[in-house]
Amino acid sequence: MKIILVAGARPNFMKIAPIIGSLRAKRMEHGAKHLTWKIVHTGQHYDYEMSQAFFDDLEIPAPNFFLNAGSASHAVQTAKIMVEFEKICLAEKPDIVIVVGDVNSTLACSIVAKKLMIKVGHVEAGLRSFDYTMPEEINRIVTDSIADFYFVTEKSAIKNLLKEGKPEDKIHFVGNVMIDNLFYQLKCLDNESQSNFSTYKLKKESKDYIFLTLHRPSNVDEKKTLLEIIEALNEISIETPIIFPVHPRTRKMLGAFGIKLNEHIKLFEPLGFKESLFLWKDAVMVMTDSGGLQEETTALGVPCITLRENTERPITLEIGTNMLAGNKKADILKCYRQIIEKGKQEANIPPKWDGKAAERIVDILTKN
Ligand code: UD1
Repeated sequence: MKIILVAGARPNFMKIAPIIGSLRAKRMEHGAKHLTWKIVHTGQHYDYEMSQAFFDDLEIPAPNFFLNAGSASHAVQTAKIMVEFEKICLAEKPDIVIVVGDVNSTLACSIVAKKLMIKVGHVEAGLRSFDYTMPEEINRIVTDSIADFYFVTEKSAIKNLLKEGKPEDKIHFVGNVMIDNLFYQLKCLDNESQSNFSTYKLKKESKDYIFLTLHRPSNVDEKKTLLEIIEALNEISIETPIIFPVHPRTRKMLGAFGIKLNEHIKLFEPLGFKESLFLWKDAVMVMTDSGGLQEETTALGVPCITLRENTERPITLEIGTNMLAGNKKADILKCYRQIIEKGKQEANIPPKWDGKAAERIVDILTKN
């Protein structure tokens, strides 16, 4: 069986890492010599901090193909990836293309594969925010409309897929590959690697701190919205300092709008996976608009305030540590206060978030 694994943007890399590990294990331990795979990096993200740093941190081998898509409008970026990926599929003739998550690379490569009658496996299928202003929601819906294997992280996704008429036998509740990676990386985070981090001293000197990430277009692309969020953060940081690795999109918008953050918000370039984990796992809370961090904080029981009106990952609200604040100043302050007053609450880890999702995916693939 010949597999092509696609990754393109930062949140993809931690999802393919455990799948590669499980493919390798399957081939070595079970002598599955017929099992081969190649990695395609679309180049949707390309800065060292947004891409190569993750390959290094997560021990992902160099990609077999780099498509050099780069940044552009959604249409141009998607089209560029499609043109280049088609050449690879035609030359390589894989049996299956595995796409992960909900970024433009996920969408582009699944369309190309399906039109060439190559099977498509979607890891993290079925998640729905029901918010069509979110580009990722379109990517999820279109990818799921043509996929052959739905690898699902939580029960809401099964419900969504069944409601959309997807056949039950294509839906596989495997757990969460992001959490496979998280547990593995936690084990790897030793004293030596920690003391090399640029934030090592800052963390040691800070008693309580908040870890913040912010990059969604709906939060950062309009001045009024971004300003309101930053006003809330400026106020909060006087009481609890904030560590903020800044996404390139956000840095650009902060500069363009001339928005000032106070000195209690410590800004960094985007951090690698291990260094981020080193910081957020001991934070008093995480504030984020990322999808992945909502899940990772739930897995480690760290309180999380999500700066969005909705989430496609409802399990993190139902049994995890996540709460939705939206992007209004009063609501953000209210959620912050609630966590400070109540402290860390009891939370559960969602079913099958046990570090074995990738193993289950590879088992299913090799049985079919
Ligand atoms: C993309 C994904 C989003 C994911 C996010 C994580 C889509 C539709 N969006 O959004 O789901 O949560 O990645 O980061 O696929 N830039 C750089 N260097 C880079 C990459 C981007 O400077 O390596 C800058 C570019 O100027 C670009 C901007 O950041 O215009 C935004 O990048 P883009 O890939 O378009 O979208 P993200 O906001 O990163």
